[in-house]
Formats: sequence, C-alpha cells, structure tokens
Amino acid sequence: MPRLVLLAHPAVRSAFARELGRDVEYHERIDSTQTRARELAMAGALSGVVVADHQVAGLGTRGRSWHAVAGSSLLASWIARPAPTAPALFAALAGVAVARALDSLGAEGARLKWPNDVELQGRKLAGVLAHATSDGGGGVLVLGIGINVHQRQRDLPDEIARTATSLAIAGHPVDRLALLARLTRELDRLEATGELERAHGEWTERSTLLGRPVVVQVEGRSPLAGTATAIDDEGALLVHTADGIERIVTGEVRLA
Ligand code: BTN
Repeated sequence: MPRLVLLAHPAVRSAFARELGRDVEYHERIDSTQTRARELAMAGALSGVVVADHQVAGLGTRGRSWHAVAGSSLLASWIARPAPTAPALFAALAGVAVARALDSLGAEGARLKWPNDVELQGRKLAGVLAHATSDGGGGVLVLGIGINVHQRQRDLPDEIARTATSLAIAGHPVDRLALLARLTRELDRLEATGELERAHGEWTERSTLLGRPVVVQVEGRSPLAGTATAIDDEGALLVHTADGIERIVTGEVRLA
C-alpha cells in the first residue's frame, strides 16, 4: 500500500501533522498544490504543507507545466511565513534540502543545477518552484517541490524521456511519506541560525555547473559564454565572461 495515500485518513493526517509540526492538507487529486498553498497563504496561513497524490495542472518554472502520472511522485507545497529574506537563494538551497533528504533514504549523491533542479545520475529528478509575496509584514513564500519517485521509464513524457529520471529508475525504492517527512525536516533546518551559509557551501559542492564553461540564454539577449563561478547571496548565478562578471537572475544555462 503506498503510504502517502494514508494521509486521506484524518487520524493518520493529524498524527503526521504533529510529527511535522505543521498543518497538512492532502488531496488525492488537485489542480496544483502550489495554487492551493498560495490560496491558503493569501488567506493568512502561517505554515502548513499541501500534498497531492496527483496534480492535473501542475506548475513548473518559467510558465511551464509539471506532469506526473497519478501516484508516481512527491508533489508538495510548503508555506513559509515570514518569507526568507532572499527567496531565490532559499529556493536554490531547497535543492540541498532535497539532496540531504535523499541521502538519508539511501539515494545518495544528488547534484544541483542552477537555479532549482535536482539531478541524479545526470538526469533531472526534482524541481523547485518558489512564489514570494509581500504582505505588508515579512511576506510569505510558497515553495513547491516535485520529486519523481515511482515512475518507470515508460511513464516519462517523450519530451523529457532522455533528460529526466525517477528514484525507481535510478534503483532506489523510496517511500513518498518518509521522503515528505525527511524533506520537511531538512527545509525547516535551513531556517536555523547559520544553516543557510552551510547549505550555500553544500550547494557549491553539489553544483553541476560551478567551475565549468557554460552558455547562458537570457531572454532578449544573445547567448553568453563564460565560466560559472558561484551563486551569490540572492541566488543569482555569477558567470565570468571575456567582458567581466555577469550576474544571471533568470535564464537557461547549459554546459558549453
Ligand atoms: C520545475 O519546473 O523544475 C519546478 C517544478 C515544481 C513542481 C512542483 S510539484 C508540487 C508543486 N505544485 C506545482 O504545481 N508545482 C510544484
């Protein structure tokens, strides 16, 4: 029995919510946990996590959609209020939280591709989507994470079949409920004193791009070639080019 679906039972859900220390809303089927968590955040929710077994209108970065067959993935959105001071950096470092959670469950060695992709064995395993909103106070961040868990190769849509993977494809049978618990703990840990700096260092170690020649495509500009050297304290990628240092806030980056 896939354990995530046990969250449909109120008693299981409230025990799990106590374990996590935050409200848990579970949906067997929903448009998008991100849309739902944003509604809750707009209505004043302080924390909480929205989880689904299946999304029918999952949101990806840069206006894309996020597809996952029913029952295949960990699909969740966490509410953080007040928002972290640098939401884009926090979203990148959420990748470190994903990698640490995976390590703890035996799926070791995940690597991070700027801005928010988690890769395993050179293929995309997970993505992070962040929506920060100001509210006249400290603001609120809704952080959505999708992790491919049980997909078989034939479950991956054609357009990502050669660039994506799942924990099952990579040989790691992982339980989604355990992953949700570990990942929530790792996300909470990022908010403790000194932990962002530590995670920033770990992001650098796990990065697929740093120290390597890259080509960056920024909308409306011609491609830019250089060497990726760091992410700064706001999560921007620094690329050393022949003309100086470029600070990339949004764009597509690939190895040259
Ligand atoms: C990316 O494009 O790489 C980011 C994908 C983020 C997908 C997750 S799944 C849970 C949450 N709900 C959504 O609709 N999107 C995010």
